Amino acid sequence: YIDAVIFDLDGVITDTAEYHFLAWKALADQLDISIDREFNENLKGVSRLDSLELILKHGNRQNDFSLLEKETLANQKNELYCHYLTNLSPEDILPGIPELIRNIKEEGILIGVASVSKNAGTVLQALGLNLTFDYCVDAAKIKRSKPDPEIFLTACEKLNVDPKKSIGIEDAVVGIDAITASGMFAVGVGNILDKADYKVENTKQLEWTKIKKAYTNLINVN
Ligand code: G6P
Ligand code: MG
Repeated sequence: YIDAVIFDLDGVITDTAEYHFLAWKALADQLDISIDREFNENLKGVSRLDSLELILKHGNRQNDFSLLEKETLANQKNELYCHYLTNLSPEDILPGIPELIRNIKEEGILIGVASVSKNAGTVLQALGLNLTFDYCVDAAKIKRSKPDPEIFLTACEKLNVDPKKSIGIEDAVVGIDAITASGMFAVGVGNILDKADYKVENTKQLEWTKIKKAYTNLINVN
């Protein structure tokens, strides 16, 4: 009765969300804009250039740079982020994720990745997970970013599954919105994702039996 589970990458499979934050913070500091972890919640799941726009707006500097200058700034952030990625190894897969993937696969359920990151392939490769998923949708394959459902719908389409019989797992507010808009069951990792259909505080708590139970309960209510 469950066809597929689609995972967000940064912040769900591995803690690259923290590297994104550190790289953005270094850039923001340089621009005399102060960003903290609370503000960073708005950046999770948001594309590179859109993230930069949010940061500039936050510092009231959205009109200070040309498009070319903004691209240079975004590249600068990406270089620092990629520098952090060089340390990434299979040990950086978040707790609970390997068991979860194993349990899902044991039931013959398909798994996919939906990440708007242009670095998604590099990250999956570094984690040793490049052959684990049945399909990965990244920035190159979509036109619209989360919270648009396109990325999750594309994953379901490529896996040939019904979104209504599929589950998405996200750590970002816009990600939960994208999953919900696609008609899938939304699992949220983190404290702020009140709109999720099922919520856990961290990946360690992502137990397949509990997720299935929550999904079944919702289906039975509706
Ligand atoms: C993910 C992350 C965001 C990041 C975006 C683009 O959605 O959650 O923090 O900005 O990917 O990543 P990229 O690697 O292309 O800059
Ligand atoms: Mg994420």
